[in-house]
Amino acid sequence: MALRRAILVVLLGALSALAIRPNSGEARGMSSMLYKRKRDKQTDKERTNMRPIIGVVSQEGDPAPKGHTYIAASYIKFLEAAGARVIPILADMPPEEVERRFKLVNGILVPGGSQVLRPGHGFYDVTSKIFELTLKANDHGDFFPLHGTCLGFETLAVIASKNHSILSEFDAENLPSPLFPTDKAEKSEFFSVLPHKVYENLLTKPYAMENHVNGLAWTAIAENPTLVDFFDVLTLSIDRGGRTYVSTMEAIDYPITATQWHPEKNAYEWTLDKDIPHNPEAIVITQEVGNFFVNRARRNQHNIANHDDEVDLLIYNFDLVYTGKAKFEGEEVDFDESYFFPPWEKVREVEEAKRQARSA
Ligand SMILES: *[C@@H]1O[C@H](CO)[C@@H](O)[C@H](O)[C@H]1NC(C)=O
Repeated sequence: MALRRAILVVLLGALSALAIRPNSGEARGMSSMLYKRKRDKQTDKERTNMRPIIGVVSQEGDPAPKGHTYIAASYIKFLEAAGARVIPILADMPPEEVERRFKLVNGILVPGGSQVLRPGHGFYDVTSKIFELTLKANDHGDFFPLHGTCLGFETLAVIASKNHSILSEFDAENLPSPLFPTDKAEKSEFFSVLPHKVYENLLTKPYAMENHVNGLAWTAIAENPTLVDFFDVLTLSIDRGGRTYVSTMEAIDYPITATQWHPEKNAYEWTLDKDIPHNPEAIVITQEVGNFFVNRARRNQHNIANHDDEVDLLIYNFDLVYTGKAKFEGEEVDFDESYFFPPWEKVREVEEAKRQARSA
């Protein structure tokens, strides 16, 4: 670890020497002038929404049955423990429905997993739409937070960079790691809101659960002016091959954060195949990152006028399955529990029937 840290210090020195420090006025160029800085002060006065609802994006593939999409329940528990409830945003929803749901939730989480990150693929298209809506909302003074975890981080990196080959391969599956801070970390919204002890533990102990085969090379972000304009790199981490990738970032002008690591796994995933940190200090990381995100969402005032409509949209209307108990349809499953969603057309019919029954 000492050697890794030494290598990283040298790399960071080289990065400074090349003057490709994200967020330096010159490097950011013209486009940043178009944005007004909307820093999040996280003041208690503004956190007035005491019934925050978070949208979470579903995805195809294991453990979802064919034609279905899923969300690992650990993401839902992570949000619930911070005082939020969840409305799913299905990967096969059309843009109009994504927009309708956007206006009903107070923040959106794009979770981890494995999906094709190109236009024409549901998860990517839905997240692109959400990204566009998030920028628009915040530009119009409608404070709306967005967070990406692992695959969610990668998706936001692809969208914000406008470069479909920005990601590269890393050997970082099942690799709980420490986070090495850049000079942007300490004053960042994300790390300055987390309790100092949590920040310190993340930097000094391998408590950030990394579990990915793709990632954002620290050199790739520096070479992409669009991405440098958009995101501050807060931390870097190192894979088994000594390659350095971005592990935490936050948007400069928007309440958008992304972690390549999984804050939700420490408290909520128990597979024996993975070395997930479960000690008390690691559990607090799950809780405090959840608090950070949900507290941001309390500043958003989107709401669902009719309580019956709210109840019908919540994730509790869908099947919660114990997917971690055994192999699921022949596959090892990383997730203890998962929510399954039928195809959007079916879900739409059910929701419509409930609405009609109420108005009859
Ligand atoms: C996209 O990013 C990759 C990785 O940094 C880089 O090699 C490539 O040149 C970029 N493509 C464009 C069009 O900028």
